Amino acid sequence: MPDAAAAARRLGEHDVAIVLGSGWVDAVGGLPCNAETAVAGLPGFSQPTVAGHGALALSLRAGEVRVLAFTGRSHYYESRDVDRVAHAVRTAAAAGCRTVVLTSATGGIRDDLAPGDLVLLSDHINLTGASPLTGGAFVDLSDLYSARLRALCRRLDPSLKEGVYAGYWGPNFETPAEIRAYRAMGADLVGMSTVLEAIAAHAAGMEVLGISLVTNRAAGLGGRLDHADVLDTAAASLERMRALVETVLPRL
Ligand code: HPA
Repeated sequence: MPDAAAAARRLGEHDVAIVLGSGWVDAVGGLPCNAETAVAGLPGFSQPTVAGHGALALSLRAGEVRVLAFTGRSHYYESRDVDRVAHAVRTAAAAGCRTVVLTSATGGIRDDLAPGDLVLLSDHINLTGASPLTGGAFVDLSDLYSARLRALCRRLDPSLKEGVYAGYWGPNFETPAEIRAYRAMGADLVGMSTVLEAIAAHAAGMEVLGISLVTNRAAGLGGRLDHADVLDTAAASLERMRALVETVLPRL
C-alpha cells in the first residue's frame, strides 16, 4: 500500500487510531491537539462528502497515548471502491497504530437498543458483498472485534451494551423487510460503515474496537429515517460519547 505508507510518513508515528463516524467528531474535542492535517492533501485520500463528517487527520494526546483521529471516513456508498474505504485504517497501521477504534451511528434492531445507547460491537455481518482483501490470504475473523478491548470498556463503563452490527451498502436506508431479515440473521444494529474498515484493520494486524451510537430505531421499528435526526441524536448524546472516548483512549 504505497499511498498508505506515504500518508503515514506525513502524519508521523501514533499508537491508536480513531475513526469518527456521523456525529462523533466533537467527542474528541477535549483532547489536546498537536497537529491538524487536511486529508485531501494526503496521498490516497479524497474529500469526504457526507454531512456531519469532517476531513481532517488530528494528532491528539490521550494521557501518554498518541492518537491519530480521522474526523470523517470514506463510505462504500461514496465510491464503491473498497481500497478507498480502507485507506484511513491502512494509513493508521502504517503510522504504527496497534489499535483502531471505529465509531459509527446506527439503527437499533434488537428490542432493547434505543436512540442514545452506546453499543460495543461484538461481531458483524458484512452485507456489502465486498471485501477490502484480495488474493489468497484467508484471514481469520473469529475475534474481529477484540474481546479484550470490549472487556476493558465494560470495566470502565458497565452500562455499555454489546451487539452484532449489520454493515449495509447504503446510501439508501434499509426497507422494513430487510430489517426483519437482518434481525432473523442475528443482527442487533444496522449501519453503513465499519465492516470493511474492520476487516482491513484486522488484516493489517491491528486490534479493533467498534463503538456505535444508536441514533434511531431501524426501518419499520420506529418513525421515519432522516440523516438530520441521526445528527441531532448524536448531538444530544455528545457528553456520554466524549466521556467514553476520554476514558477509553488513554488505556488502549
Ligand atoms: N440504517 C443505516 N445506517 C444508519 C442508521 C440506520 O437506521 N442510522 C444511522 N445510520
